[in-house]
Amino acid sequence: MTTQLTRDAEELKALPRAGRRAVVMTMGALHEGHATLVREARRLAGPEGQVVVTVFVNPLQFGAGEDLDRYPRTLDADLALAGRAGADAVFAPSVDEVYPGGEPQVRITAGPMGERLEGASRPGHFDGVLTVVAKLLHLSAPDVALFGQKDAQQLALIRRMVRDLNFPVEVVGVPTVREDDGLALSSRNRYLSGADRATALELSRALRAGAAAADGGAAAVRGSARGILEAAAKLEPPVLLDYLALVDPSDFTEVPDDYAGEAVLAVAAKVGTTRLIDNVPLQLGAER
Ligand code: PAF
Repeated sequence: MTTQLTRDAEELKALPRAGRRAVVMTMGALHEGHATLVREARRLAGPEGQVVVTVFVNPLQFGAGEDLDRYPRTLDADLALAGRAGADAVFAPSVDEVYPGGEPQVRITAGPMGERLEGASRPGHFDGVLTVVAKLLHLSAPDVALFGQKDAQQLALIRRMVRDLNFPVEVVGVPTVREDDGLALSSRNRYLSGADRATALELSRALRAGAAAADGGAAAVRGSARGILEAAAKLEPPVLLDYLALVDPSDFTEVPDDYAGEAVLAVAAKVGTTRLIDNVPLQLGAER
């Protein structure tokens, strides 16, 4: 199948459509995790429908001192991977194409959920994410949009935006793809040296230990995961923990010790010069 590359919003809007359209939004530097999203998009769109992959490194969601300039840009490889996974079209616009009026004056505000965890560490990040997701939804007009559960807070906020602002789209979350040794796939993994990567494995190890302690309740989950991260803080290079949180997936507030129901154990840490996030969904106590 040939995958059409378009950089132009009008051209994207003019793509012929039949059946269902599924969109996978990315910032490029595609890996097997993205390929899984595209394959699932293909399945949901069906042979008659279309799969559109967007590739856009969105300046609005990067803070000062973050990795906007060094974020990997690998469009040729992205196009090939998207095509192999079943995409019909790749929309890779320039910054001017997405923000023709310069920095947008009017933006989506992520609200309180957007100020917790990732939002506390990266002020304004989720406003930038939701603003571009809203724009890309308008431009690509999909029936279904797929996002990875690796960015669990982002996924929860997109679901919330779609519900609160009546976007006519179904949002589908796709489970995190991991290397055999547990490392969650991420475009930022390419920044890791061999030693960084060995240390980075402690994040998924901590999450697995936390999940394995779920029968003991929230305190046991936090304690198990924290124990591994405390030991990992003494490695070389160390895990420099930003947060470890056990949260309610509907609003990303910390759950109490007697909590029963679905939860997300989330971690963010710096290893070497790279900031990594990971999470695992789990069930605590009796189902509510
Ligand atoms: O998850 C990402 O890659 C980005 O945050 C997204 C959703 C493409 C918006 O820029």
